[in-house]
Amino acid sequence: MSGDPPLPFDPPDAPPGLYPAPPAALAGRLRASVPEKRFVHSLGVAAEARRLAALHGADVPRAWLAGLLHDCAKGIPKERQAEECDRLGVALDPATRALPQVIHGFLGERLARTDYGVRDEAVLRAIRLHTVGGAGMTALDKVVFLADGTEPGRHYPGVEDVRAAADRGLDEAIRLFLDGQFAYLASRGGAVHPATLLLREELR
Ligand SMILES: [Fe+2]
Ligand SMILES: [Fe+2]
Repeated sequence: MSGDPPLPFDPPDAPPGLYPAPPAALAGRLRASVPEKRFVHSLGVAAEARRLAALHGADVPRAWLAGLLHDCAKGIPKERQAEECDRLGVALDPATRALPQVIHGFLGERLARTDYGVRDEAVLRAIRLHTVGGAGMTALDKVVFLADGTEPGRHYPGVEDVRAAADRGLDEAIRLFLDGQFAYLASRGGAVHPATLLLREELR
């Protein structure tokens, strides 16, 4: 739309074979399968993951690619995602099944593999972990997890503090981000996924 700021599309150079198709083709496929708002968010996460990766020593093109595709399963309605996992043979443990809002990470890993052709296991893992986190996350996992909460389109109480912390260090920023999330969930009676609790515990 005229008047909108240009979308932040700036794919970094990647080693041969990391991008399963030209970046513009991957973005075009994503744009055709998720709502426009989600697509704009995905470009924001890709750009922010790229920036954080460069700042904190994670792999830059992997961070960009995982950021771009992290929400690729969001075109499937939330209430149908578990069923789709069952159909495709994507295993969901009971804790994950009980939290419909996190399932798109697990389904997204599968779709990134089958629908987008991603073969890089580190990228696929970062996509899977972006909703729940876990113990033993790599710098790449953390960059994608955090970029989801700090990309320029995110607005929530405390986001500026999380952004400032993200420039200083991944662990401190994730701690701050999770504390805000946990407080929000507690106020609404929502449950926290056990993998997210493990992550928070590890960062203590
Ligand atoms: Fe997501
Ligand atoms: Fe997201």
